[in-house]
This record gives sequence, structure tokens and C-alpha cells, in this order.
Amino acid sequence: MGRVFLEGYDPDEFDCYRQIMQNLPPVQGWLTDNYSGERERVIRGTNGSVECRPMAYTRSNAMRLDAARDWIDKQTTISAALKNALIFSVILAADRAFNGTNDQKSSLKAWTTRALTPVSFPTPSLIEGPTGTQLNSDILHLDSKAYDFVYLDPPYTHGVLYAACYHLNNSIAVWNKPQLNYDYALPRPLDICFRDKGETAGGFYNKSTAAECFQHLLTQFDCKRIVLSYSNAPRNVLTPDELFAICSAVGTVSTYSVDHAICTQPSMFNKVSTELKELFITIDTHD
Ligand SMILES: C[S@@+](CC[C@H](N)C(=O)[O-])C[C@H]1O[C@@H](n2cnc3c(N)ncnc32)[C@H](O)[C@@H]1O
Repeated sequence: MGRVFLEGYDPDEFDCYRQIMQNLPPVQGWLTDNYSGERERVIRGTNGSVECRPMAYTRSNAMRLDAARDWIDKQTTISAALKNALIFSVILAADRAFNGTNDQKSSLKAWTTRALTPVSFPTPSLIEGPTGTQLNSDILHLDSKAYDFVYLDPPYTHGVLYAACYHLNNSIAVWNKPQLNYDYALPRPLDICFRDKGETAGGFYNKSTAAECFQHLLTQFDCKRIVLSYSNAPRNVLTPDELFAICSAVGTVSTYSVDHAICTQPSMFNKVSTELKELFITIDTHD
């Protein structure tokens, strides 16, 4: 998705392919088999009661999403930019048809109107202007570290893994049809079931490893200015003061803050706490 914003795509070509994608015959595939219809499951916090609950998508929508995503992979002669834009469109469509709130860990008790609406494939925002490059790697193991300006938006909540929150987007993007663990309300790819593997996620996701990660993150760049977004939410891996101490060792720090909502809170509640602040920390580096 980042590549679509940074590299752009040909809108006319995209539209032509989008229309074909919109009219493909539905196919029963990986999404249909694993994430559609209703499934009996034990409901957490109910003393083991079993109920039949909606999954991520209605069967007919999952079949349209499967048809589109399989078809994109068969288009072997199209440009990478067009392919990425089409995949982005499938992710946007899947997101709209998803029977849940903000993350992809569970779905709602009853089908929503959105989930019951037939899938339509949107056109991703086309950003005009200078193009850029997306690197896809661990930020703690970068090859290139010299930049004019660095903006960082790292995870900051203990135990809330992005890979678990947005695994469906990732599976649709990569389309490697991973093996799943069905013990969760929505099945999860095995490689992100850390607890079942007896592992902790570590890195930015854990209070015991976060300080070292932030220190490494902020001291590695050869640049004049770093801007970091963070928040003061209660489950954060570092308190703002702990983070300021790390930032102050790197350069001169100034902050700007705005109100924000917790990302795991359904957007339909539209609740913004006056206590919660999104912080933008500017560090003008010492050298
Ligand atoms: C707060 S989100 C950033 C969201 C992004 N700014 C956006 O608007 O989509 C933090 C991101 O950091 C990624 N992440 C976590 N650990 C990472 C690491 N070691 N290297 C690179 N990315 C990492 C997560 O997967 C997640 O996408």
C-alpha cells in the first residue's frame, strides 16, 4: 500500500482492470474457506457457551474477494505499479466488507449493513508529485541510515501487535494463503501466534525490550532532524518521560500534542478522551 502512495499508478489502466475485476465470476477460495459465513465457537467470558457467530465476510463477498485476488496473481504481464494498485483496491474492498470494527482480531455478533453490501472495488488515492521508494525491512537492521529528515511512527502499546491486528490485510497483500490457528475468534496465521509458540513478541511491543529498541531506533540515523509520534496512553511500553530521556540524549527535544482516540476503540464510538494525547516529538540531533 505504501508503494501505491509513493510510486503512483496509471489511473486509466487501473480503471480498465478494476472494471474487469468488478465483474469476475465469484470463486470459492482461501478467504471463503477460512473467513466467510458463520461458525460455531466458544464465546470468551461466557463460561464456555458456544454460539454461531458471523466471520469476517459474508460468503458471497468472500467469493468476490477471492476471485479478484486470485485473478490479480494471474496477470503476469502487468506492471508492478498496476498490480500493487489492484491489490490495494482488494484490501480496501475487504476492509469495507469486514464485519467488525477497527482490528481484525474478532468480528461483530450480527452482520452489519456494510458487511451485507456487495463488494465493490475502490480506486486508491493517487498522490501526484515526487515519487519515493518503500523499504520493507526491520527498522532496527537498516542498510542505509543517512537521510535529510526522518519521521517515525513506531508501535507504542504493550502487547498490541500490528501483525495480529491487521493480519487479513497482510494475507491479502502477500497472498501466500498461510496455515491458520482456528482457536481465535477469527483464525490467525501460525507465524503470528506468539503465545502458542511460547514466545513473546519482544521489540517495540514489550515493556522489557522497548527502551533498548527506542534507543537503537533513534541513535542509528545520520540526519539533522527526527520527528517521532507517540502517545501517553496507559498501556504504552514507555512513559512519555522515559521516552523524552532517550530522545534528549540524541538531540534538542520539543513537543507538540493533539487529542487522540485509542486505536483499538471502535471508530463508531467516536470518543476522544481529553486525557489522551498524541505527541509529536521533534529531535534536532546534536551532530
Ligand atoms: C503506529 S504503526 C505505523 C502506522 C503508519 N504510520 C500508518 O499510518 O500506516 C507502527 C508500525 O510499525 C511496524 N513495525 C513494528 N516493529 C517494526 C520493526 N522492527 N521494523 C519495521 N516496522 C515495524 C508495525 O508493523 C506497524 O505497521
